[in-house]
Amino acid sequence: MKPDLHKLYIGCRSYRRFRQESVPQEVLQEIADTARMRSCALNRQALRYLVISSPDMVKKLHPCFRWAAKLPKEIGTPTEAQRPTAYIVLLKPEKAHAFADIDAGIALDAMAITAWSHGVGSCILGSVNRKILSEAVKIPAGFDVQIVLALGYPDHKSTIVEAGTDDSLSYYVDEHRDYYVPKKSAAETITYL
Ligand SMILES: Cc1cc2nc3c(=O)[nH]c(=O)nc-3n(C[C@H](O)[C@H](O)[C@H](O)COP(=O)(O)O)c2cc1C
Repeated sequence: MKPDLHKLYIGCRSYRRFRQESVPQEVLQEIADTARMRSCALNRQALRYLVISSPDMVKKLHPCFRWAAKLPKEIGTPTEAQRPTAYIVLLKPEKAHAFADIDAGIALDAMAITAWSHGVGSCILGSVNRKILSEAVKIPAGFDVQIVLALGYPDHKSTIVEAGTDDSLSYYVDEHRDYYVPKKSAAETITYL
């Protein structure tokens, strides 16, 4: 049967609160391995992946991130009992080629959707304090922290809503702190010629 990738992608939102249940190591391996296999410019395979799931290390990483910049910290930042249970840190060479950021985008998307196919939610974290992170984790010589993917079993819902005419694209939460994510209409964003 054809897998319903469209449905899988629609559910694959950013999740910011998680159940405190470890993601099995073989699932983390499959997530990182999918990224390793994806297309990349000139097939250079310049990126490296640090898969972090030991509870001590995961705990140390928490101060490195800014969660949900559109929401007050007490709403958007997971409490200790809601934090991700794993992270994948993407590293790029200090002298990365011009397409390394595109490679990273492809890798992130591959990891997020592979995770979601196992019911594991994720959040891309671009707002990273790289100094604190490199104190917490040994970054191999010649590499910089590019971006981070937080992972865990979601403890909230997130739903796409059509963006209003007031042009506000900010995501928001309801009284249960479930997320609503406005997306522009197909008519506005896609042109068929
Ligand atoms: C490049 C990039 C960087 C992001 N950085 C952060 C971040 O630092 N903190 C955060 O909470 N969310 C971050 N996000 C998640 C976005 O806020 C989220 O994708 C957006 O609000 C749309 O929600 P959705 O992913 O559910 O569609 C990032 C997403 C991308 C693609």
